This record gives sequence, C-alpha cells and structure tokens, in this order.
Amino acid sequence: MHDGILDVGVVGLGRLGKRHAENLAFRVPGAKLVAACSPSAEERAWAEGALGRPKVYADYPSLLAHPGLDAVFLVTPNTVHPEQIVAGLKAGKHVFCEKPLSLELDECLAVEAEAKRHPKLKVMIGYVRRFDASYQDAQARIARGDIGRPFLVRSQTCDMNDPSGFFVRFAPKSGGIFLDMSVHDIDLARWLLGSPAPRRVFSVGTIAVHAGLAECGDVDNGVAICEFAGGAMATIYASRTMAHGHETATEIVGTAGRIVVGRDGRANEVEVADAHGIRTMTVPTFWERFEPAFLRETIHFVDCVRHDRPPGLTLHDATEATRIAIALRDSLVGRRAVDL
Ligand code: NAI
Repeated sequence: MHDGILDVGVVGLGRLGKRHAENLAFRVPGAKLVAACSPSAEERAWAEGALGRPKVYADYPSLLAHPGLDAVFLVTPNTVHPEQIVAGLKAGKHVFCEKPLSLELDECLAVEAEAKRHPKLKVMIGYVRRFDASYQDAQARIARGDIGRPFLVRSQTCDMNDPSGFFVRFAPKSGGIFLDMSVHDIDLARWLLGSPAPRRVFSVGTIAVHAGLAECGDVDNGVAICEFAGGAMATIYASRTMAHGHETATEIVGTAGRIVVGRDGRANEVEVADAHGIRTMTVPTFWERFEPAFLRETIHFVDCVRHDRPPGLTLHDATEATRIAIALRDSLVGRRAVDL
C-alpha cells in the first residue's frame, strides 16, 4: 500500500468481472485498479480500452507477480475459486472472491486453514445481499427484536429466462442451481436467523425449459427446505426461467411480526394502468437490483484492508453456505433428506 491507496488486480473479466473492474477503476475511494487478467483476448482488449489503463495479463500467475500489487478480486468460474484464493494468499495478497467459496467442503476447509496461516491478510467472499440497503435494514430490525424471535425465512432467487443458453454452457462449472443461486438465500437465512447450525435439508427440482441441463444433472427450477438447530426453518426457491424479470425476494417471519424484502422485483416506482389492468416494471437481471450493493461490498472490503478491520462476513460463513448447498445438491440427486 502506498499513501493509503490499495493497488488491486481483477481476475476474470466476464459478465460480473467487468462490473467489479469498472467499480474498482472509477468508484472505490482508496483503491487503484493497477492490473487485470483474463484468458480471453476479447476481454483483454476490452480492459485495455475501458479501465483507465491497468496492466493487462493473460493469466493469473503473471498478474500475481505485478509489482506492488496488494489485493486481488477473483471473478472467475466457481470451480477455480479455492485454488486461486490459496495462490493469492501464498503470494501475500488480500483476496476478495465471488461466491461460492468452493463447490466442495474439503476445499473450503483448506482455504480456511491457509487463511489462518496469513492472519494479516483479509479474505472475503462476495455475498452481495449483505450489502444491500434493504437487507441491511431488515437485518437491523430483526437484530433489535422488532419481529420477536425469527423462526422462518422464505427466500427466492429467480432469474429471467435467457434463451441464448448462456447458463446452460455455464452450468457444468457452476455446481448446479443450489450452489450457484440458492447459496445466496442460504447465506441470507443464516444471517437473518442469527447463524443457527443446519440440521437437515431436502430438495427437489425440475427442468421446466432447458433440456440441455440434463447432461450435467442440473435443473432450471429447484425448491429446498432447511431445518436449523433450535427449530428455525428456511424454504428456498430458485428459478432460471421467469418470464417477467429478475425477482429476488425474502420474507422473515417472527413471533411478533414479519418482514418482506424485495417483493415483485420492482424496477422503479412507475405503475401503469390501462386496458390490461395495473402493472409495474421488473428489474431484468441481478445487476439492476444489486448494483449499489456491489459497490458498497467493494468499498467495505477495501476499507477493511486499509484500516486493518475484519470483514463483516467471515470465511466460516462462506463455508457454511457451501456445506448446506452441497447437502441440497446431494438431496436432489439422491432424492432423500440429508442430515448435516
Ligand atoms: P463468466 O463466465 O461471464 O466470467 C468468468 C471469467 O473468468 C471470464 O472472464 C473468463 O475468461 C475468466 N476465466 C476463466 N478461467 C479463468 C482462469 N483460470 N483464470 C483467470 N480467469 C479465468 O462468469 P460470471 O457470470 O462473470 O461469474 C463469475 C463469478 O461471479 C462466478 O463465481 C459467479 O458465481 C459469480 N457471480 C456472482 C453473482 C452475485 O450475485 N454475487 C452474480 C453473477 C456471478
């Protein structure tokens, strides 16, 4: 770090990597985007022109050797997260990595062990909803007892159908619908219920639209039930086939009330009334819904590094989310409840 500024490199310049790179290049106080890397020539060409001239590399080891680099942002396929986090730590870099931490539990534990060997380095996994203003408000209300004792979370992550087949190609490296999508709702459920230990899960799924998913054993719609210690519960729905837009919504029920976040995925305050009735517009993708939260998440991580504070979200939280999501995947495949 020089003059309190963190030199950052972004790894992976796909759908989300480009967004993180733009935030780091132009919108995060105390951070400077000095390097970027992607194996794709097209993405490297984009980075040369769009990001205020960071040094652009074709592979991660070359980026890690960039002189003076302090931190890396990993926005790469889910399958490579653990090895890239470990390599970053071994090279002495602070690491932000997109969710999920890994697709396998032993890899999560190996990352936690490696992080313990580098107590001065910060590591955070990007559970972006924890940085959304509405979810933060809901969590604060629950923590101060506004709805009594919370005992049920009903949460969904539903994407608009993408007929291009992007996610069918993405699916073999995603870990499946629960590890890729529901892992957000699992993390929310743990956070909003006060981090109870999971006890048992059950899931079912179906291919409603995208027959190509059968090849890698995935589904495009899934439903999950999680039971936690102390009697708390979560029900989770994930869909990749919504007709109307992206709809992330969560309801938390307590002994003295309930809170709903994000009902209907409204894009704005506009309501149209005409011969078809009254309707509102819906955000098309997760990005329009969570853009400010992605920025707040990045600012939080950079602040934690610059001021040597622990991130609000621990590696253990990320391991637990993966552990529950793996059990849901096993439940889907094995067609049975799975004890944890
Ligand atoms: P993508 O497939 O569009 O991009 C992946 C990028 O990684 C590409 O630039 C690719 O060239 C690069 N790449 C592949 N292998 C690499 C390697 N070995 N080293 C360096 N770069 C490599 O995928 P997308 O949608 O951008 O997802 C990336 C990550 O972000 C995933 O972990 C995904 O789960 C997460 N994500 C998180 C979201 C959230 O709501 N927090 C939303 C969307 C994605």
